[in-house]
Amino acid sequence: MKVAIVTGASRGIGFEIVTTLLAKGYRVIAIVASGFEGGGHRGSFLRRAEEVLMGGISLIPQVVDAVSVPVIAAGGIADGRGVVAALALGAQGVQIGTAFLRCSGSGASKAHQDALNSDSARWTGLTDAFTGRLARGIRNHLMDDLAHQNSPPLPFPLQHMVTQTVGSAASVQQKVELMTLWAGQSASLSQSHEASELSDEPLGSSRQSVVEADQPSRQTFESLREEEISMNKVPGAMPAYTYGEAAVATSRVSLEELEQLKVSVGLTADDERYLRKAGAVLEGQTKQIVAHWRSGIIAGIPNLARHSRTLEGEPIPKYLAQSNLRFEQWILDTCLRPYDQDWLNYQQEIALRHTSLKKNRVDGVESTPYVPFRDIAAFVAVLNDTIKPYLASAGNSASEVEAMHRAWCRSLQLQIALWARVYVDLAKTKSEW
Ligand code: HEM
Ligand SMILES: Cc1cc2nc3c(=O)[nH]c(=O)nc-3n(C[C@H](O)[C@H](O)[C@H](O)COP(=O)(O)O)c2cc1C
Repeated sequence: MKVAIVTGASRGIGFEIVTTLLAKGYRVIAIVASGFEGGGHRGSFLRRAEEVLMGGISLIPQVVDAVSVPVIAAGGIADGRGVVAALALGAQGVQIGTAFLRCSGSGASKAHQDALNSDSARWTGLTDAFTGRLARGIRNHLMDDLAHQNSPPLPFPLQHMVTQTVGSAASVQQKVELMTLWAGQSASLSQSHEASELSDEPLGSSRQSVVEADQPSRQTFESLREEEISMNKVPGAMPAYTYGEAAVATSRVSLEELEQLKVSVGLTADDERYLRKAGAVLEGQTKQIVAHWRSGIIAGIPNLARHSRTLEGEPIPKYLAQSNLRFEQWILDTCLRPYDQDWLNYQQEIALRHTSLKKNRVDGVESTPYVPFRDIAAFVAVLNDTIKPYLASAGNSASEVEAMHRAWCRSLQLQIALWARVYVDLAKTKSEW
């Protein structure tokens, strides 16, 4: 398999390259969206670089919206704040250039590193005079003088061969005004580090910043969410849906245990965001989804279908209709509710309603006394497989669908772990395994 990471995607341009690569049998696994803030050259093959100058804030989200592979943001990212911004714009990773020039182990000369550490680093410019191709560096005499020449530069890389004679000699003599000093617009944010510290630092500080940056929006979301949730109720009367009501017993699983389980299952704050996104996608499809599961799958498996029927095997339409509505609501609750005490309590309630302690009671029917735990645990696989096309139906990128699906699967695994508590407790008197 031939794999390509396409660098230098500008709107329109990257896609032409991608199409060509795909036609040649390459698999494109990621696209680097390079804003014009970046140091050095930017890949630009199908149009002149001057025609496709775009800052990252405009470029990244447009590339993210247009492609289905992960986008790596490049240009002007030098610390955690830049990483956070790029991630917020939808990038899945970042590429850092200039900030590494100041790290120990960088091939940049001492003079270049000193220039990056000086006031002049605040003044970068784009020029094709050094190499014949547009590239960004710290402005100095050489850049300005060459810019004032009337003749256009030689084509790349001939121009580079010519200017290199000056640049190399200047570098040996540490004449910074005559050197080529590639650097991006955030050069003055860069600091002297070990390279490994830099690669850890943006991530470390970005995690922090993500958390901090996320707080207001999360709070806003919390307050909005109550309104949303009232809108995000499955339409129609929903008998016996008692979420948040005093009648629901307190869960025997503690909030602390819930937090530990979240860690064990790998459910992150990112997953919680993707669950909310999934909620927006699934809302409006819940009827179809539950019909798919219950009429399309369970009804065709006698060993499972019996749990919604009379003991003689007759259908109980009212039972199915009412519990279907609550099942629909559960999809929204899984995605949109905060996983707090109320959620924990209702997890226990749902589990109880599958056991002999509560099954059939809320709908006043006579069906099988309980759904065995093993069938519930096994059925998770079906719920996970079948939800994916519904998650993909809103036209989100493949990577976003993947992220929503991963979050969904983790949540379900978590819920089954919680339900196990009810069945394990019950096992002390009789096994409903
Ligand atoms: C991970 C797997 C499962 C999930 C997430 C799930 C979820 C739910 C939910 C949310 C409800 C409504 C709870 C409420 O009253 O608010 C429900 C009820 C019900 N489920 Fe499941 N279920 C699962 C597996 C199964 C299986 C395998 C069966 C058996 C075929 C089953 C049979 C039933 C029945 C009969 C009810 C009505 C219970 C009652 O009498 O109140 N479920 N389920
Ligand atoms: C010294 C230097 C040389 C570079 N050379 C190239 C290059 O030859 N081709 C290219 O596509 N990008 C080149 N780049 C751009 C980087 O790959 C990267 O996209 C860019 O540095 C990111 O922006 P930043 O410098 O603001 O971090 C270079 C960058 C620097 C700093």
